[in-house]
Amino acid sequence: MRSLIDIKELSLEELDGLIATALDIIDNPQKYSEKCKGKKLATLFFEPSTRTRLSFEAAMYELGGNVLGFSEASSSSSAKGESVADTAKMISCYADIIAMRHPKEGAPLVASMNATIPVVNAGDGGHNHPTQTLADLLTIKRKKGRFENLTIGLCGDLKFGRTVHSLIAAMSRYKGIKFVLISPEELRIPSYVKTDVLDKNGIEYVETKDLCTAMPELDILYMTRIQKERFFNEEDYLRLKDSYILDLPKLDNAKKDLCIMHPLPRVNEISVKVDSDPRACYFEQALNGKYMRMALILMLLGIN
Ligand code: CP
Repeated sequence: MRSLIDIKELSLEELDGLIATALDIIDNPQKYSEKCKGKKLATLFFEPSTRTRLSFEAAMYELGGNVLGFSEASSSSSAKGESVADTAKMISCYADIIAMRHPKEGAPLVASMNATIPVVNAGDGGHNHPTQTLADLLTIKRKKGRFENLTIGLCGDLKFGRTVHSLIAAMSRYKGIKFVLISPEELRIPSYVKTDVLDKNGIEYVETKDLCTAMPELDILYMTRIQKERFFNEEDYLRLKDSYILDLPKLDNAKKDLCIMHPLPRVNEISVKVDSDPRACYFEQALNGKYMRMALILMLLGIN
């Protein structure tokens, strides 16, 4: 029995396998429509979500399975004080696989240590979001055709941005990767990501506050939201929230084949006018998340 808590738990061969399955699902959806017949996915979301929860649910339905769960902590017995460990033990009696999002870093790991079914980390606080990274990887594969020799700009909240932390961990295993880390001083990438991931893998990176200067060299621009829910005081959030707003003039100096990504939800950081630019990939990225979650469910349930 295997869970997915951190993207690094998947080998490069396994990532290739998941991408191959997702591409086959896109081409042959009918072949997969009953693969999970009789299986149940539990979505335990202690924190808000649109894409992750609903794409997990759509994924299970499109595999012929069923879904149960809750979308806010207040409607579960955690509101009465039940622990994550006990919740995981209980849900193991009712479902075959769990997708859990929680505001506390490490909560899905605790769940996986107590469940008797696979647990997928659907985002834990400011820590990790491995299935977003699966969506990101399929998007990069489909748009760029490779994972090597890419300059990737990560822009916005790099401190609390769990999608950024997981993507750096995944892409640092490929050759010729350079990161341009674009953020305000206060929202720089955590030092543990620099030492344990970037430095350890000998990855080239620069830190800057300036998106426009970085733009011309980027193959991928990964925008992120300044996350109000991660701030301890509103004053800091208000000061930083509009640090970066990507609009069409800022793309004048960008490569013609730039891939603009965003895990979404967006607030102000990408102008809606960018949506119709052929370089905008973020809605496709969200769709890719469903296919990769289908592939992951099949893998963790041991279904071929
Ligand atoms: N990208 C992402 O995790 O979106 P949601 O918060 O809507 O699930």
